[in-house]
Amino acid sequence: MTKSPIISKYPSTLTYQLKSFENIPVDIFENAEAGSKHIAQSIALAIRRKQQMGKNIVLGLATGSSPIRVYKELVRLHKEENLSFQNVITFNLDEYFGLPKEDPESYYYFMHEHLFNHIDIPKENIHIPSGSIPMDQVAKFCDNYEKQIQLHGGIDIQILGIGRTGHIGFNEPGSDQKSITRLIQLDNITRQDARDSFGGIEEVPYKAITMGIKTILSAREIYLMAWGQHKAEIVKLSVESTPNSTIPATYLQMHDQVRYCIDTAAAEKLTRVETPWKVGSCDWTDDLTCKAVVWLSERVKKPILKLTDEDYNKSGLSELMAEKDNAYQINLKVFNRLQHTITGWPGGKPNTDDQNRPERSMPASKNSIIFSPHPDDDVISMGGTFLRLVEQGHDVHVAYQTSGNIAVHSHDALRFLEFYKDLAEAGSIKIDNAVFKKALKTLLSDAKDKNSEEVRIVKGLIRKGEAISAARFCGLKDKNIHFLNLPFYETGKIKKNSFTEADIQATVQLLQNIKPHQVFAAGDLADPHGTHRICLEIIFEAFERLKDEKWMKNCWLWLYRGAWHEYNINEIEMAIPLSPQELLKKRKAIYMHQSQKDSAPFPGEDEREFWQRAEHRNKATAETYRKLGFAEYEAMEAFRRYKFDWQPAKK
Ligand code: F6R
Repeated sequence: MTKSPIISKYPSTLTYQLKSFENIPVDIFENAEAGSKHIAQSIALAIRRKQQMGKNIVLGLATGSSPIRVYKELVRLHKEENLSFQNVITFNLDEYFGLPKEDPESYYYFMHEHLFNHIDIPKENIHIPSGSIPMDQVAKFCDNYEKQIQLHGGIDIQILGIGRTGHIGFNEPGSDQKSITRLIQLDNITRQDARDSFGGIEEVPYKAITMGIKTILSAREIYLMAWGQHKAEIVKLSVESTPNSTIPATYLQMHDQVRYCIDTAAAEKLTRVETPWKVGSCDWTDDLTCKAVVWLSERVKKPILKLTDEDYNKSGLSELMAEKDNAYQINLKVFNRLQHTITGWPGGKPNTDDQNRPERSMPASKNSIIFSPHPDDDVISMGGTFLRLVEQGHDVHVAYQTSGNIAVHSHDALRFLEFYKDLAEAGSIKIDNAVFKKALKTLLSDAKDKNSEEVRIVKGLIRKGEAISAARFCGLKDKNIHFLNLPFYETGKIKKNSFTEADIQATVQLLQNIKPHQVFAAGDLADPHGTHRICLEIIFEAFERLKDEKWMKNCWLWLYRGAWHEYNINEIEMAIPLSPQELLKKRKAIYMHQSQKDSAPFPGEDEREFWQRAEHRNKATAETYRKLGFAEYEAMEAFRRYKFDWQPAKK
């Protein structure tokens, strides 16, 4: 029997009880890959069944980042396992209004790029709302779209993503349960989410044509998928609140054949995951106990050591009390656990008993590599720790994984080139450099997309110079600064390629050369562009490749989070306190990244500068520790250790 990819941390008898807050069946998968395969295979099975009956099948399809892996798996099934799409008829959910189908941002383009160009579906079976019909024909077009769906017997399987507004299709908050295919106004949050792909908010269309809620609910079977932490909040709201028009996805609760397929990150906020003690009996592991105590302390606004039996009982934690004797015992255990995460010695404290310290004391001087996905993540996310590692005498290397070139404004690149030109002229030197000439020409042209290969070289060099300044400021010698320029990143667009052997080999080589005792890497799966995620996957793969090396058994991988989120306190395994001076020094290191100051081209919707985000986050962590009853620090950087199953569990 094959192992189910669905994760259930709970004994099956408790499953029903633990899901009682959820009004829709939710399957939680280890990762997006596993969940997407599950959906693709369910679709493939349905297609084959219909083929055996000599019938067509009608699929309702979605676009966006969520279904990409489903389409990839369907293409693989077609190419490697003879899955034919001859009997498949498709209807897409939506299309931006005002975009011609040739536009790379159109959903027409997306569907062909990810699916239709790679399978044997007859062209006439494909239906996608048109974004370029004249306004006065829209109503008729929408009416006809509905009729076409009905003429083909209705949708058999509908797949959906979910927007942060809770939209399904482009049915934004306020959409009526009875709505059918129509022209709608996009919500501002939805436009913000699309702004990076369009290269600026002003480029994002204001309207779209979308199937309605009623159209979606008429499908016989529905799968909604959500991957990643940024979907956790809306997933919870959409399955745990009662149906309402403010969160259109809640209407799915009225369908009897709907399933959510989500990954562990998107499940984070579900009551059964976040506060499982509210839903039923729990297996009180040390991790869960710590999570519950931190939750309780925040809830009753008392430091851990002041929590009483009554606090536990009144907050639904009497089961925990019953298992662990009394509040005093639990408080002490959790307090000590958290206390042991705090250390001023990120590379381990030499000549001390390290039993209760996050890092090993030996060797006293360690080889450390800090991997930085973009050229500024090292200082933004762990600048204070970086400074300390160097000061404490470790052989610190920093490896910038990608060039980060697309995040430089074209006007900045032009300024550098004109400086170079002026300098050459001042010395009466004739510049005979093809990159310079081509880049300058592009930057002075009217081209809408100025990210030509040459311009990207210039932009990459700008970021390289900034990274060198910041790393030198943190005390590194140039020989310890490495630029991997991983090829997967070099698309010139927000959307990156998948990683290849070249990316893995560059990483393997560096690890081999340095043989680090500790590696720091961005474990930030909330990165909206996915670059951090890919960079981490490459590191995981490199570790796997090297796992038989003796030194690898003792090579610890510490994860930090990028500029977007911090770990929950109960997840932190090493917290490095920063003094006010250290925090200021960290800020100065971040300042070195001048091209990212004020407003970088892709800052997401957060208007704060990177140094502000970093400081707010590090101060908030220190404040949370303080409220739990620990010493008051100015700020703290946080890490979590990733343990490979082939590494010894103990120090
Ligand atoms: C796409 C669509 C939208 C997306 C939603 C999530 O056809 O109708 O509802 O499914 O905006 O987008 P991603 O998957 O990019 O997070």
